[in-house]
Order: sequence, then C-alpha cells, then structure tokens
Amino acid sequence: MLQSANTPRDHLLVYINGERHDVAGADAFLTLSDFLRLRLGLVGTKIVCSEGDCGACSVLVGRVEESQDKLVYRAVDSCILFMYQLDRAHVVSIEGLKRNGLLSPVQDAMVKCHGSQCGFCTPGFVMTMAGLLEAEGSGRKDSLMPNELRSGLTGNLCRCTGYVQIVDAGCAVDPGKTARLGELYPDGPIVELFGSHAQDDVVVTADDGRVAGLPAGLDAAIAFKAAHPGCIVVAGATDIGVQYNKGMIDPREVLCLGSIGEMQGTTQVDGVLTVGASTNWSIVERAIKDVVPQFHDVLKVFGSSQIRNAGTIGGNIANASPIADSVPFLFVMGAELEIAGPNGTRRLDINDFYKGYKQFDLRHDELIARVRIPLPNESQTLRLYKVSRRRDLDISTFTAAVLMELDDASETIKNIRIAYGGVAPVVLRLPRTEAFLTDKPLDESVLREAGRLARTEVTPITDVRGSADFRLQLAENILAKFYFDCAQTVSVG
Ligand SMILES: Cc1cc2nc3c(=O)[nH]c(=O)nc-3n(C[C@H](O)[C@H](O)[C@H](O)COP(=O)(O)OP(=O)(O)OC[C@H]3O[C@@H](n4cnc5c(N)ncnc54)[C@H](O)[C@@H]3O)c2cc1C
Ligand code: FES
Ligand code: FES
Repeated sequence: MLQSANTPRDHLLVYINGERHDVAGADAFLTLSDFLRLRLGLVGTKIVCSEGDCGACSVLVGRVEESQDKLVYRAVDSCILFMYQLDRAHVVSIEGLKRNGLLSPVQDAMVKCHGSQCGFCTPGFVMTMAGLLEAEGSGRKDSLMPNELRSGLTGNLCRCTGYVQIVDAGCAVDPGKTARLGELYPDGPIVELFGSHAQDDVVVTADDGRVAGLPAGLDAAIAFKAAHPGCIVVAGATDIGVQYNKGMIDPREVLCLGSIGEMQGTTQVDGVLTVGASTNWSIVERAIKDVVPQFHDVLKVFGSSQIRNAGTIGGNIANASPIADSVPFLFVMGAELEIAGPNGTRRLDINDFYKGYKQFDLRHDELIARVRIPLPNESQTLRLYKVSRRRDLDISTFTAAVLMELDDASETIKNIRIAYGGVAPVVLRLPRTEAFLTDKPLDESVLREAGRLARTEVTPITDVRGSADFRLQLAENILAKFYFDCAQTVSVG
C-alpha cells in the first residue's frame, strides 16, 4: 500500500482535447493509442509499428513542467505510453487541433503543399509539427526552418509522399496566424485542477487484480515497491512499452514514477549537474547544451524527439543495455547514482553499478532517485562517439567515451578514462588501455598502439547491428580517431 495520510485516489485525472476523463479500472492499463481509438473512437491517431519507430501515433501531451504555471506540450508516441502515465496531463490528438470545423494551419499546409498521399502517416506528422510550433512557449513568430523540421521529424516515417513536400508544408505555416494550444484550451482551469491534486497518491486497480501505483513522493514509492516486490517500475515506458507491445511482458503490478516531483528536473551546483532519474531526455538536453555540448550532440541523435520527450535518464541506466547511449559518458565522468531505499539514500559510482548482462546493484526495494554528473573542467578533453547503421533514430552498434587530461609541463597524458559500449554484456571501462596511455605523449603511434591493446579488453558478439570483427575494428580505430579529433583542438606534438 502507498503510505499516505489520505486514502489514495482510485482513478486518473486526464484531459483529452479539453475534456476531463476520470480513468479507472482496466482502462488505466491501456496504451494511450488504444484508449483514444477503442474507448473514445478517436481513430485519427494511427498505429503502424507499435514500437516507437514510425511516429504515426504521435499526439501532444501537456504537463506542468519544472514548476511552471502552464502546460508544456510535447509530442510523444501514444503506442508506447500507458494511460497510468497520464495522470494530470492534457492529451491533444489530431481531432483536437481542428477548430470550428476548419483544418488547423499545419493540416491546411499539408494539403496545399501535397504533403500527404495514403495519409496514414499524416496525423503523426501534423502532431509533431504542431509540437515544434509549441516549443519554447507560445511566443514564436518565426516560421519553422527546413533543418529544424528535418531534425524534429526524425521520429516520423512516410513511405509514399516523400519528405520534401512535408518539409515544405512545415515551412509554409505562419506561426503568427496559428492558434496555440494554450489559446484553444486555456491552461488556467486545467492547471488549477492539476495543482490541487499534485500531492495525491493514486492507486488504480483493475477487476482482474492488476494494480498501478502512482505515488506523489519518493518515500511512498519505496513503500509501494517494498509491498509489491514483483512490480515493474515504469518511468517513460519507451523500453517497457515496446516490451509490452511485443508480448514480452504483461505486468500485473506497476509502479509509475511520473508523479514524483523529487525525481524530476535538473540543478547545477559547484560543477555537478544533478538530474532527477525521471527527467526526460528533452529536459536533460536543454540543461546540458551549454555545459557539455559533446553529450548534447549525442542526445540530438538519441531516438527521436518523441522518444526524448518521454524516455528518462533513470530508465536508460536501469534498462542496463550495453548500448545505452548515456552510459559511456556517465562512466568516464564518474557519475554517482543516488539510490533511494527504505533506510534512506546511498550513493554509488556508476562504474560499480553493473554486475553482468541486465544485472546491477539495486535491491528489490530500491529506486534510482537522481544522477549526479560531475561536469568536465577546462583542463579535460571529452569526446563521445556513437556508431550506428543510420544517423537518426537508430540503436548504437558501438559507443565510446574518452575523458583525458594532459600534463601541460611534460605534454603527456596525465590521466585518461575510456568507456566502450556494444563490445561486451555491459558497458566497459578499459583499465589496461588507460594504464598504458597514462604518462605517454599524445601522439598517433601511441594511440594506435593503445587501440590494439583496447581490442584485447573487449569481447563483442555478432548481431543484426554488426559483426564481432567490425566491433573489434571499431574498438581499435576509435582511439586513432580520438587522436585526430584532439589534434584539431589540442596542441599536440
Ligand atoms: C524508437 C526507440 C528509439 C530509441 N533510441 C535510443 C537511443 O538512441 N539510445 C538509447 O540509449 N536508447 C534508445 N532507446 C531506448 C530508450 O528510449 C531509453 O533507454 C530510455 O532512456 C528509457 O527510459 P524510459 O524512462 O522510457 O524507461 P522505461 O521504459 O520506463 O524503463 C526502462 C527500465 O528501467 C527501469 N527503471 C526506470 N526508471 C527507474 C528508476 N528510477 N529506478 C529503477 N529502475 C527504473 C524500468 O523498470 C525498466 O526496467 C530507444 C527506444 C525506442 C523505442
Ligand atoms: S505506431 Fe509507430 S511509433 Fe507508434
Ligand atoms: S502518405 Fe503514405 S505513408 Fe506517408
């Protein structure tokens, strides 16, 4: 049971296209796309891949973020989002963009620029473009730029129209003449209602015994986890939702972290960026842009905007994939995990977290609460690499992070940390290669020799994303690439 002074609320408070829905029972366990289509008959939202890859199911979800007093709308894939994640959220589907029977400006531009043929992908494109216009609040006056559209639409696939017309349509929309969602659906009453329920613990139970807990605080979450040791923890559900749709899991008990304010947001103090574990990647992207541009570049190609609007840093770490894009960076920075449990919080260096494939140091009654990331200082050189078969919306074949400090006087490597992903069951540090490089000059022959040593520290396998030989070659070559990258920015002899 959730530990709360009051009886937990037994239903979700969700707004959809401006109308309030109190969602209870089995409906709380549906995906949002199924709820829209099957329960509300809003069939404009399409389902194609069911795994976050095509964007046909995109809708906008508005929430109060980082103590703002308005709803911030973000495009998400509704096929991998569950209703229980939507307490105190306003969902806008394609049907909700139309006003007085007229097409929205984005829909109108898609018609006029011939941006739609079979039309199956079109609602998703329209919703994502509407989300781009919503970004940075309602004050936007400038039209969307082609580059902005090309990167903003990487999560939307079209098989028949061709992207030129779609991008043209996005550019043709005049933001000055486009009513924003805050005008179509005034924030005030919704935000006020959500605010008055912000401290509610929620437990929704279905007739078949399934239970979803949405605690408002970390202590209640720990208590719920202790009382339901078999529960599945859900943050953004970009991993869990795919597993569910593929029939790999069908959780009976769910602990949803989305309402826990202590696990949200970022703060920066004394060179350390602290990120709540349930902070989505889009918020991290904004916080990291100026302080670690190298990681910002990795986040730009992390999934798609829909995935980054839902997926979280805690989920990436706890999913424990050897190709999780954040982990090599967090390894070389020596990030610390704040792990909350019944006896308080403990701190753990992320380098000590993983114990084997999908195995890590987290007890059944613990949660990752926050991640503390020491930021690189001026004397350190950081380089991050993601190798994938496609640039956008692709899972990595190989990842690497290198953090190096040079001794100015001797012009040798004072210390260096190297982490590789995709070459073993877990992300690895390369202790022998690091030791070899320490006190050595930063020159090409040294880095090439280090590359040959790095090969011996990894044990890659062959899978659909690449052969073991290819990964071994990457493990070797990436250090030569690191040398040449440094040669452009660091003075090397
Ligand atoms: C189309 C698509 C593209 C993707 N692209 C990338 C990519 O480019 N790079 C990449 O690295 N990943 C990618 N992913 C994977 C995924 O988006 C990330 O791993 C994401 O960060 C997961 O976060 P989440 O909040 O959605 O996790 P969830 O699915 O909610 O949870 C993932 C796991 O973590 C556990 N968990 C979550 N939060 C906590 C916590 N605080 N404490 C303890 N356990 C917790 C859950 O129980 C679950 O086991 C992609 C996924 C999809 C569907
Ligand atoms: S149906 Fe393809 S992302 Fe949802
Ligand atoms: S118009 Fe047919 S898939 Fe895009």
